[in-house]
Amino acid sequence: MTEALTVTRLGDALGVAAEGIDLNQPLAASSRAALRQALLDRLVLCIRGQSLTPGAYLAAMRLFGEPITQVRQAARHPEAAEIMILSSEDRDDLGDGKRLVVGAHWHSDDSYKAVPCSLTMLYGVEVPVSGGDTQFVNMYRAYEDLPAEMRQKIAPLRVIHRYDSSRKGTRIAALTGAEAQTVPDVVHPLVRTHPETGRRALYMNPNRMEAVVGLERSESDALLDALVRHATQPTYQYRHHWRQGDILIWDNRCTMHKANGDYPEGARRLMHRIIVAGTVPA
Ligand code: SIN
Repeated sequence: MTEALTVTRLGDALGVAAEGIDLNQPLAASSRAALRQALLDRLVLCIRGQSLTPGAYLAAMRLFGEPITQVRQAARHPEAAEIMILSSEDRDDLGDGKRLVVGAHWHSDDSYKAVPCSLTMLYGVEVPVSGGDTQFVNMYRAYEDLPAEMRQKIAPLRVIHRYDSSRKGTRIAALTGAEAQTVPDVVHPLVRTHPETGRRALYMNPNRMEAVVGLERSESDALLDALVRHATQPTYQYRHHWRQGDILIWDNRCTMHKANGDYPEGARRLMHRIIVAGTVPA
């Protein structure tokens, strides 16, 4: 097998790009290991220049974990239930029918589940010429930079995560009654240890965190707001400008991200999203 995999850093805070491979072909063991390590080291991995059918995309992403289905059944790809379609045409069909930009506020995918996914993959099938970037923050660094007293204070704290949190910063898709029943409130630690790197990170989802367990609501809101302001500072950020054929893979255990719906009216943005199984945050 001859491959010319090159790996280069993207942002200062996080992000790495891999070029020179075609995921339609089996990868050499050395390339597989290099991709997995690049993701662990840099938290967000962009594999450039891919052209994949839904089946080939799904098969290729098994390198990183076991794909699982996502909650909203209406968004599932007709050829592969584990692929969710995100599109500039999206409307909140079960809600008010208005335009929906999924993930248009800082969040970590799937935190409303007891066992959230570990990684998300987003494949840029059609990307707008301008706008539609995805932003990321490094939650290891955000945690490590907190003053020692704050790290001590938040170490034992746990947070209620709710699909339709009263604190959400964006519109979210309405669910069917049956779908809503699959997402009862869950509780997660505010600081988690990454199961593969052993590093500690802030574990937050401003779209889904309802309240810190055991704190008065005002104290809980003030603490969560302060931590979100801290973690989303530009110094922790990388902003991805999409190229068609990019596959972006990010680690939800140590990052947050947000979509931007700022592309011009009529521009097309079509993404195929996969998530892979994770473990209980601890
Ligand atoms: C997401 O939040 O999963 C989607 C991000 C994007 O569309 O840029």
